[in-house]
Amino acid sequence: MTEISTGTAFSKIDAALALSPLYTEFRLGLLDVATYQRWVENEGLASVPTLNEDQINLSARFPRNKHDFVRRALAQCRAVDILPDDSYDADASESALKRMDERFDHGRYLTYIFPEESALLYAVVNIVQPRRIAFLGSYYGYWAAAAAAAPSKQGIDLILVDIDPDSMEMARHNLEKQGLSDNKATAFLVDDAEALAAAPAPELREIDILVLDAEGPKSDDVPPDYRDKAIYYPHLRASLAELQPGALVVAHNVILSNFTTSAYFEEKQQNYRQQYTKFLALIRENFVYTVIDSTEGVLIARKL
Ligand SMILES: C[S@@+](CC[C@H](N)C(=O)[O-])C[C@H]1O[C@@H](n2cnc3c(N)ncnc32)[C@H](O)[C@@H]1O
Repeated sequence: MTEISTGTAFSKIDAALALSPLYTEFRLGLLDVATYQRWVENEGLASVPTLNEDQINLSARFPRNKHDFVRRALAQCRAVDILPDDSYDADASESALKRMDERFDHGRYLTYIFPEESALLYAVVNIVQPRRIAFLGSYYGYWAAAAAAAPSKQGIDLILVDIDPDSMEMARHNLEKQGLSDNKATAFLVDDAEALAAAPAPELREIDILVLDAEGPKSDDVPPDYRDKAIYYPHLRASLAELQPGALVVAHNVILSNFTTSAYFEEKQQNYRQQYTKFLALIRENFVYTVIDSTEGVLIARKL
């Protein structure tokens, strides 16, 4: 069995399922998500041996149209006053992100940032026009490159933080390859995000958008607050003082819903709810927030 290992998870999943008629019907909107999910659970996993359980199940959350999805997500944010407007130029987004993708080098890495999640972050940056955006757990820079593709009127600092020097080297290589305009500056910090944010490192002062995507070890040897995605809590706690009222938090992998009766997503959702107990409590105390039902789920919050 060939395990898929590099590039975007979306292109790998989409290619692996291209010959499955039910996937094609589902993507065309001819099959409802519950019927597709049942096929995934009963036959799909066995019939597409190049995909693992996560990958094939995530395909059931793919939006049919990326740009319609972004428009709805922006409207959702505007409705609860997280964003001041929901304007979105789909053609500009499409061409900027296509250019970004053509220049992006995945090397030996695989990213689970899905196309609608790249387009959503691009759109949020375009609307908010932040001066400083910080990525805690930037990995090899794919989501940061999507944010950097958005036009900036007043100039923007993109601060990437990751504890892993190899991922960061790849992120630097990729951001440099983008050939960013002169009013876009980048910084690459290899360290523990909590320690840097708590100091705070000069680069992590006065953040307008904080993007959370770190992942702690899954091992029981690690204290629960630092395990897997629970690490968002200490990362947000340490960054809170440098987020002014109105600043945004954008967090990846926040799935709190199950579209169908899928056992896979029921368990995943419960697992996330448990991991995010303290993170969500901190969010509720200090922010207004909403969760966008993208493939991997994105929480967007605005500081009160
Ligand atoms: C695997 S990525 C998340 C993947 C991302 N969702 C994607 O598919 O593109 C998580 C990153 O968090 C980083 N990380 C883990 N603990 C960290 C910490 N304490 N401080 C900074 N970065 C950390 C890891 O090195 C890794 O690059």
